[in-house]
Amino acid sequence: MKIEKTKETRKNSIDFSNLGFGKYFSDHMLIMDYKKSGWEEAKILPYQPINLEPANITLHYGQCIFEGQKAFKGSDGKVRLFRLDSHYKRLINSSKRMFIPETPEEPYKEAFIKLIDIDRDFIPSELGTSLYIRPLIIGMDNTLGLKVSDTYRLMVITSPVSSYYEEGLNPIRIEVTTEYSRVVKGGLGNVKAAANYAASLYATQMAKIRGFSQVLWLDGKEHKYVDEVGTMNIMFVIDGTLVTPSLEDGTILPGITRDSVLKIARDWGWPVEERRIAFNEVIDAYKRGVLEEVFGTGTAAVISPVGELYYNGESMIVNEGKIGEKSQKLYDTITGIQHGKIEDKFGWITIIDD
Ligand SMILES: Cc1ncc(COP(=O)(O)O)c(C=O)c1O
Repeated sequence: MKIEKTKETRKNSIDFSNLGFGKYFSDHMLIMDYKKSGWEEAKILPYQPINLEPANITLHYGQCIFEGQKAFKGSDGKVRLFRLDSHYKRLINSSKRMFIPETPEEPYKEAFIKLIDIDRDFIPSELGTSLYIRPLIIGMDNTLGLKVSDTYRLMVITSPVSSYYEEGLNPIRIEVTTEYSRVVKGGLGNVKAAANYAASLYATQMAKIRGFSQVLWLDGKEHKYVDEVGTMNIMFVIDGTLVTPSLEDGTILPGITRDSVLKIARDWGWPVEERRIAFNEVIDAYKRGVLEEVFGTGTAAVISPVGELYYNGESMIVNEGKIGEKSQKLYDTITGIQHGKIEDKFGWITIIDD
């Protein structure tokens, strides 16, 4: 692996007391190129712009996938990566669906861990903060013909962050859209492809203009069943049961936080249901007074309580707009495991030694 270290650190330009999300980048990045002969050796280089021709195929046709994962620094000073394997596996699944050659596991993981190690000083240690890690793969051919690319570039960049939403752990307001569709069955919903986010931008921006943080997407065909939020999976606590859309239809991202929450909840003996949820059922639960909690799950947002669901001109205020007991317990447990305060009994943590 080639490693070229930066001459001047970017660290001094970062306001660690006000990180926000995705505003600052660490000193180094990882690059792996795919050419005719296969994946080349990984390189760690100073964070820098990349050269793209205007004819770059991804700029036109969007053959781009990515991941979003995190590293944490505990009060013991150790660096912990959360669910490295699951994120690698999802990257491979996304690659397959977008006809991108599979990234070889060992050299990728080795270079990935090296990158985090080199920039370990960028990892904040306060609870609620982390190093967000963004691997991405783009097609690199220069052509205007619509086709899959023959060449690719994988990059990994990292960014010290605090909470994703300005609200932090305070409940967010969400607009349920019945007007727009983001994905349909057979589409890219279960893939972390840039195209899904392009399809979500307009409705999300309109919702933001109206004062909401995000959109809750219903199924793309009938706008009847719950899919997910633009950046998170969605969970409901209805009459004591944790209910979330199943992965069966392939229209939602198989979220790794979703999976972590389900494993923890089942381990605690909570009643859990993964199934199709008609939005009418949510309305009905609200009217009966048994819609106890609603929250989103995601790497960036961790557990994000939803205080309001706005649907067809009416507001449903959940748990008086406050974070619920179950949401708080899940947040504390997941962040506790990530920071090394709670035992990692599921084997989710990779410690990066000094
Ligand atoms: C559309 C969408 N759904 C769900 C999630 C949550 O997935 P994860 O928990 O793996 O971050 C994300 C974020 O990555 C997302 O972008």
